Amino acid sequence: MAITTQQLIQWKQQGRSIVALTAWDYAIAQLLDTAGVDLILVGDSMAVVLGYETTLPITLDEMIYHAKSVRRGVKRALVVVDLPFLTYQESLQQAMHSAGRVLKETGAQAVKLEGGYPAIAETIARLVEAGIPVMGHVGLTPQSVHQLGLRQQGKTQEASERILLEAIALEQAGVFSLVLEHIPADLAMQITQKLSIPTIGIGAGTHCDGQVLVTSDVLGLAEKHPPFAKVYTNLRETITKAVQDYAVEVRDRKFP
Ligand code: KIV
Ligand code: NA
Repeated sequence: MAITTQQLIQWKQQGRSIVALTAWDYAIAQLLDTAGVDLILVGDSMAVVLGYETTLPITLDEMIYHAKSVRRGVKRALVVVDLPFLTYQESLQQAMHSAGRVLKETGAQAVKLEGGYPAIAETIARLVEAGIPVMGHVGLTPQSVHQLGLRQQGKTQEASERILLEAIALEQAGVFSLVLEHIPADLAMQITQKLSIPTIGIGAGTHCDGQVLVTSDVLGLAEKHPPFAKVYTNLRETITKAVQDYAVEVRDRKFP
């Protein structure tokens, strides 16, 4: 059975933790889905595997191309696609057009937008009104890297109050779930208790309703990873070894 946005909200009520990871193509998505991941995010963090320095250069066409590939690999998980930088901030029309293209062209069930109130919350309210499920994302928002850097957010009393207010505004705007990235664990706990929609944490402690990580970090495919990522295996080493073994055998005429 395919997972729905309503189901994730029910899981919060039941205290069942939501497992989320990112994917960028069919092969990875199919593996994650079969392994039982609940929510697969086609995140603009795929910038890493596409060789970009930040998430900023990714285009809507690139996101759609990859999301179509991911969608073909998924039977059970809820598929959420990031709207990339400056494909939703310009105007409501732009956001509606971008989100509409994602849902219509990829078959994904939802989009994710970065940022809080008032402008983004207003945009999200209108998308939700139009029937588009939206996931929010506050705290560290990597599309604002040139303003925020990649530092932890919400460290001062004032900053932490602002993030809490943004989270509340986004819930009121109708998001079905909210990513909390790189904020103090006690702030994430406070937000999680306050909201009735599930929070999905990344570098936000253990008290969120679910966790997300960037799959290229988890698999050890990325050259570097943020301090809060956990690297569960080292695919860079595994792949390098396999390719070197192959090269040796070809050069020695041992293979085929
Ligand atoms: O792009 C991404 O991978 C994300 C997650 C870190 C939430 O937005
Ligand atoms: Na993202």
